[in-house]
Amino acid sequence: MSSNEIREKYLSFFKKKGHSIIPSASLVPENDPTTLFVGSGMQPLIAYLLGQKHPMGSRLVNAQKSFRADDIEEVGDNRHTTFFVMLGNWSLGDYFKEEQLCWFFSFLTEELGLKPERLYITVFSGDAKNGIPKDEESIAIWKRLFAEKGIEAKEGERIFAYGNEKNWWSRAGVPSNMPAGEPGGPDSEVFYDFGTVHDARYGESCHPNCDCGRFLEIGNSVFMEYQKQADGSFAKLKQRNVDFGGGLERITAAVNGNPDVFQGDLLYPLIAKAEELSGKQYQDMVPSFRVVADHVRGAAFMIADGVVPSNTERGYIVRRLLRRAVRHADVVGLPEGNLALLTDPLIASYEGAYPDLIFRREEIVRHIKEEEEKFRSTLQKGLREFVKLSAGNISGKEAFDLYQTYGFPLDVTLELAKERGVSVDIKVFEKEFAKHQEISRTAAAGRFKGGLADTSYETTKLHTANHLLLASLRQVLGEHVHQRGSNITAERIRLDFSHLQKVTPEELQRVEDLVNLKIQEALNMVKREMPKEEAEKLGAEMEFGIKYGDRVSIYFAENEKGDVFSKEFCGGPHVQNTTELGKFKIAKEEAISSGVRRIRAVLE
Ligand code: ALA
Repeated sequence: MSSNEIREKYLSFFKKKGHSIIPSASLVPENDPTTLFVGSGMQPLIAYLLGQKHPMGSRLVNAQKSFRADDIEEVGDNRHTTFFVMLGNWSLGDYFKEEQLCWFFSFLTEELGLKPERLYITVFSGDAKNGIPKDEESIAIWKRLFAEKGIEAKEGERIFAYGNEKNWWSRAGVPSNMPAGEPGGPDSEVFYDFGTVHDARYGESCHPNCDCGRFLEIGNSVFMEYQKQADGSFAKLKQRNVDFGGGLERITAAVNGNPDVFQGDLLYPLIAKAEELSGKQYQDMVPSFRVVADHVRGAAFMIADGVVPSNTERGYIVRRLLRRAVRHADVVGLPEGNLALLTDPLIASYEGAYPDLIFRREEIVRHIKEEEEKFRSTLQKGLREFVKLSAGNISGKEAFDLYQTYGFPLDVTLELAKERGVSVDIKVFEKEFAKHQEISRTAAAGRFKGGLADTSYETTKLHTANHLLLASLRQVLGEHVHQRGSNITAERIRLDFSHLQKVTPEELQRVEDLVNLKIQEALNMVKREMPKEEAEKLGAEMEFGIKYGDRVSIYFAENEKGDVFSKEFCGGPHVQNTTELGKFKIAKEEAISSGVRRIRAVLE
């Protein structure tokens, strides 16, 4: 079954159930400064989920273009893509769990012909702290639906209950991350079992949320009936909503029994074209072919929505996609200048649903070509410079000059250095890089209001935790890390900091452990006032771009003996002793712009 057929079947199925088909919104969100791209079908519908009347009624369905920049570095396995089409249906205070689960199950098993024994279910296990019960209602509905197919669906065998991390959905993630006013709720996911052998590297035994590749999530029904309150508690929304989303490529993969979404009928034509142009086989260079296809597709859709390659914000994401695509095009042996030739197979795949692509074809081709040319000229010049330098090891300053003068990304310098058996001083590079990140910093600072939301005790505790976090990041990742912005509410910390790469799970764990260690060490938070020069001499941390007066106040986190763990330019307020903080936990780490990462963290 083709993806186009599946999309049409989905839209007409829900149309028959009284839904209005609404068009896909642009990838660029309207009136929503909280996010760079539309990453799920509900984002453009927030006002309606909160109670405003939608002109098309209370039952809606569509196929929404979505883009998740967080996943850029994940692309390469058989399922992660940056761009995807999300099939979505919504009840705006209309139907609820019974109809939603029943319809989706019948769509999968009857319309698409998926075998019910291949389907596995997850539901919400409850959140006692926030007074949200386990979703027994969905469990009962699922048991009945499977029973109707002659399958006894036991909990722990076919239905699995998970907590906030897996089965709670909101734009901001888990309840503790949600800002006041944000809607969210428990969800129920359906997984398809491809029946492949479990890969023990991912854990002892396999289960729906295992990452070994056997199970693929193909749809998520969010029961959006809660809203975070200003005091951190949860109250029922005025209306009970359903927000469903399922990846079209993933559903196609399940229907055709092939877990590789890149071999689906939408993406494979790009890979086939790249194979034809390079004379190489997909099977021989799987990850690089995937990166090329995914990144060209993402960039093309973005250009069609008016985002063009540049050095800031959205434009920078398009630039990064295309430059990574060029590098992987070289790996698969695509001749120079050929990247834009993937545009036509891409348009052929998607023009039925997104005819804009046809009208924007020339711009797409032109920008891809220009970006490839620009990057190649940069690469050429940088390469010549590199060859001169690489007689010896490359200092951080030299690596930075390659970047600054020739636009030579660090990962290219690293790859080339490896080939020649020379080393690069990454720490010094990052220090230099961090100093020059004004553009990203401005971009990041403009994204949210900085500082403390209020001076309540909860916010004050998190403010102290923010100091410990920054000092721990500097200890674990290196002295190039500086604060680039922070926003603290009574629920969470959001800290932006300079760092080039993704922080690995191991590094995050070390940072978290270090903060908790310092909490246990019962450090005192001591405020001292002094002339600015003296504070600078002490090496106290100051936030880039902020003007300080001649006399400043510095907060020290230190033990009884006076050993200092953290010192920052800061006006407070802080707790007296770190033992007041309880347990510190990192909830999320992501890139927000070039060389700037964001961590969200909570106290439990
Ligand atoms: N909004 C929900 C999701 O993105 C459906 O998973």
